[in-house]
Amino acid sequence: MKKIFGLMMVVVLLAAVLVGVVNAAPPGQMSEGQEYVVQANDWLSKLAEKSYGDVLAWPVIWKATNAKSETDPSFAFIADPDVIEVGQKLWIPGEEEAAQLLAEFAAERAAVSPSGSAEVTGELDLLCVVELEWCEGMVGEFNKLYPGIVVNWVRMSSGESLTRLRNEASNPQFDVWWGGPVDSYIAAAQEGLLEPYDSPNAINLRDPKLMKAPDNTWYGIYVGSLGFATNTNYLAEHPGLSAPTSWEDLIKPEWKGQIMVAHPSSSGTSYTHLCTNIQLRGEDAVWDYEKKLAANVLQFTKSGSAPARFVGAGEAAVAIVFSHDAVKQIENGLPLVVTFPSEGTGYEIGGTAIIKNARHPDLAKLWVDWALTPGAQKLGPKYQAYQAPTVNGVELSHPELLDVNLIDYDFEYCGTHKKEFVDRFTNEIANADNLKK
Ligand code: G6P
Repeated sequence: MKKIFGLMMVVVLLAAVLVGVVNAAPPGQMSEGQEYVVQANDWLSKLAEKSYGDVLAWPVIWKATNAKSETDPSFAFIADPDVIEVGQKLWIPGEEEAAQLLAEFAAERAAVSPSGSAEVTGELDLLCVVELEWCEGMVGEFNKLYPGIVVNWVRMSSGESLTRLRNEASNPQFDVWWGGPVDSYIAAAQEGLLEPYDSPNAINLRDPKLMKAPDNTWYGIYVGSLGFATNTNYLAEHPGLSAPTSWEDLIKPEWKGQIMVAHPSSSGTSYTHLCTNIQLRGEDAVWDYEKKLAANVLQFTKSGSAPARFVGAGEAAVAIVFSHDAVKQIENGLPLVVTFPSEGTGYEIGGTAIIKNARHPDLAKLWVDWALTPGAQKLGPKYQAYQAPTVNGVELSHPELLDVNLIDYDFEYCGTHKKEFVDRFTNEIANADNLKK
């Protein structure tokens, strides 16, 4: 089972607090710094307490160890400070080095919450892939910080947005792409459609190895798991049935004509479902499964979240959707219950990226920097977006949605083969001619 957010720790850091912490360390203590090998039950915060007298000084050890690992590979590179492993070699800085790291941290933290500016003016063209309400809400929030920027935005599903970017490659109409699973971003980056950008706020990412492209062509802005949303009225009317708890359940005859899912050509949600099953079953066996699943599907939809709405309204019994999108509809009063497949389920990292040859690259950078702040990421629930944040310093609104059996989803693999797998689905399983809107 994949654990992304299993080990929560306090990560909201104030530089001022940290400075106080180190100054408070006993004089003369650890003036030279020292190597340390991780023992069972060690945590960075525990080591920080031992070395500096305060748990909140843990980033000093994190930063220093990663810096050492650049020139001496015997030191660990710690991608996620929540996870250190027995036997890893760490560097615990002495006072002088610690103070310097704290100063650096203060500078980095200053970039974390941009105060915005009324001075910046211009236009920003945003290709938005999340739910409409969230797009609209975030444009308004961005404008509170940057009232002089006119944001022109359009909402499109992932597959549609990727097609649009391909079609506009020689004359891009969008500056920044925000939302939708990164499989599409990986495909786009491989086609040269994205502009690398080294955002200073990447420092905020909980797991940079997983949550950003190695070449900075995209960044992760949220995480969500795929699940099933079943109409509880339908279950009450069919006493022999219970909500599906496996992918195999979905192909049973009792669900004939009762399943709804988007089409993977238009929807990133549905592509996550397809690539999840490819990874669970293999590239050969999956098509037989998808054929059986398609036989139970009432109608494929264009947008990934739509099946939760339709199933909530009683048009079919079970939707395959991102679990946070089902939670939104439950909050809206629809009779749905969320379950997860026992064989393991896929998950998305939602992305953001700057478009190659964008007309307003500097404003696009402002958007990406902002999207990687705790301030921006904590806004999701205000707009009924319950995905998990990717940055430190924001609590998960629904941690239970990730506390499920997640497969070790291979984004690189799914992104690289996206076109091939979608084309095969369209040619062999179901065409995309009559998608429900
Ligand atoms: C919804 C989900 C997002 C996801 C997006 C992709 O908005 O909440 O998490 O990234 O769908 O949309 P699509 O229509 O392409 O499946």
